[in-house]
Amino acid sequence: MNRIISFEQYLSEYKKSVDDPEQFWAAQAEGFVWRKKWDKVLEWNFTEPNVKWFIGGKLNITENCLDRHLAERGDQTAILWEPNNPKEEGRKLSYKELHTEACRFANVLKNNGAKKGDRICIYMPMVPELAIALLACARIGAIHSVVFGGFSFQSLSDRIHDADCNIVITADGAFRGAKDIPLKSVVDEALQTCPSVKKVIVLKRTNCEVKMQNERDVWWSDEVKKVSAECPVEEMDSEDMLFILYTSGSTGKPKGVVHTTAGYMVFTKYTFENVFQYHLTHSPSPIGEGSQQPEVYWCTADIGWITGHSYLVYGPLLAGATTLMFEGIPTYPDAGRFWQVIDKYKVNIFYTAPTAIRSLMAAGDNFVKPYKLDSLRVLGTVGEPINEEAWKWYNETIGKKKCPIVDTWWQTETGGIMISPLAGITKTKPGYATLPLPGIQPALLDEKGEELFGNNVEGKLCFKFPWPGIIRTTYKNHKRCFNVYFSQYKGYYFSGDGCKRDEDGYYRITGRVDDVIKVSGHLLGTAEIENAINRHPDIVESAVVGFPHPIKGWGIYAFVIDDHNRKDTDELKKEIIATVTKFMGSIAKPDKIQIVKGLPKTRSGKIMRRILKKISEGDTSNLGDTSTLLDPSVVEEIKQGALS
Ligand code: PRX
Repeated sequence: MNRIISFEQYLSEYKKSVDDPEQFWAAQAEGFVWRKKWDKVLEWNFTEPNVKWFIGGKLNITENCLDRHLAERGDQTAILWEPNNPKEEGRKLSYKELHTEACRFANVLKNNGAKKGDRICIYMPMVPELAIALLACARIGAIHSVVFGGFSFQSLSDRIHDADCNIVITADGAFRGAKDIPLKSVVDEALQTCPSVKKVIVLKRTNCEVKMQNERDVWWSDEVKKVSAECPVEEMDSEDMLFILYTSGSTGKPKGVVHTTAGYMVFTKYTFENVFQYHLTHSPSPIGEGSQQPEVYWCTADIGWITGHSYLVYGPLLAGATTLMFEGIPTYPDAGRFWQVIDKYKVNIFYTAPTAIRSLMAAGDNFVKPYKLDSLRVLGTVGEPINEEAWKWYNETIGKKKCPIVDTWWQTETGGIMISPLAGITKTKPGYATLPLPGIQPALLDEKGEELFGNNVEGKLCFKFPWPGIIRTTYKNHKRCFNVYFSQYKGYYFSGDGCKRDEDGYYRITGRVDDVIKVSGHLLGTAEIENAINRHPDIVESAVVGFPHPIKGWGIYAFVIDDHNRKDTDELKKEIIATVTKFMGSIAKPDKIQIVKGLPKTRSGKIMRRILKKISEGDTSNLGDTSTLLDPSVVEEIKQGALS
């Protein structure tokens, strides 16, 4: 274990990591099971880009998540599972059981034609079988591509297509709050345009009716009966792909972010242990002095997002932790659910999103009062900036002012946490992600691409040296990876975020500087939402911008042109929402829709989003220079429409 235990040690480790990054990361890579040790720690340039870590190493990440723990902690709980319905019984899987299930399902995959290097799409509810499916893929060297269960058929089919998946793992349906979501029928619709998929493995969860297609569709429960629970690991190269995860970008098409095996493994374990200060035995213990029980850690993210990959599944399992998985939503059956689950499982470390915190804060303290929350030791946030009011409420009402809050800044592309306090070690400030972790070298750049040195500066957040979890490529399109992340500022990885470094050298993220919006912590491309809106037969064109939203952080404001001049505008708006839900999923539903006659465009046809953004924020007083617009009169019309 390479856990930092004091701020002085953080400073010295940080210095070591910058002076000799290779030696630093090699030290963190010790202690894993390597089938063959690496020959060279790092090779890199940010010009192609080409980044390789632990070159020549051979390993399997599941041997490190599972097999490595069996002797010492085989009977310890690996996964605790809380269902959507509090009346349904939860489940517990020990490391031994999780190992058995992952091996068995790995054999199911092989039996259904999966091989090393295949891409397998996973579209499932938050049940233990989802984690098992990830581990089973990794065990046989297949590359998993998890698609969040809230995406609809079009988003799913685009992702299956892009990765050329041959197998889809899904369930009949998913329970989310009071809703049952028919996952399998979404898969059926998506697969109408995905000929690459030869097998669909279906888990029974909601018992809703599904149509099984002969030859193609098989039941999870039937398949596991046909195979043994012995499955040796596939030996993988350090730089073999572990998974693809799609994330939205400035253009309409999502990018398949690729992470590889060894670097991701080393980075997620190191960051998990250090940021959360996870203890395998905790003392003093809320459940008895000197208890040998490992701490209970709960990350509320869905495995469909990177947070779920890195800090619900891989990071915690690599560290031998007990990780809690929750199927439901924070407000079902009521807004006290998170707090009830914390008391039920005596959760020690709780990691969630600012949106959830804001919505539970808005629901009122009466939902918190019935619960003790005295097991909590560390609180975390991720995914979007947290406002001071929500930070304080989290600190006082949930943490009772005794739990450090780790505001963790990172991205799908970074693989793991980059800028964050270390719990209880780094002094925190509300709204600040604070300091870079050892091994992370941030740089703030000005408009001209010059690095801003010293404190009290604000610029674009970039990184000047690779870390083991960095994105390797965007699937089948390396050029796009270069264009999006490495082309704006030569020699730097560009995050797409703005950032301040204050007088203490602390980092505060100011938000996105590109055409993506963080809605409830989910990254959505404006172009992707516009494409979905434009599927409505009456809409010829649309422009989407984000506007500040008290709960979601950012809401979606859509300006649409209806070329049929429909009089029933309320009906039209409802239809537009239904169209977006159908083609993208309900997470992308516009909060506000304004029907307009034209959009503010430059003479070259580019939409001036800056103007629309100001209007959406209700700030119409100073829209800047509009004289370069093709038709400046549209601005007045939009302004009037926004006010009415
Ligand atoms: O804008 C930043 C915001 O989320 C973006 C990355 O989104 P995604 O790839 O979906 O990953 C989210 C989970 C790691 C960033 O570019 N973001 C993430 N964490 C924070 C944040 N903004 C402010 N503070 C954070 N702690």
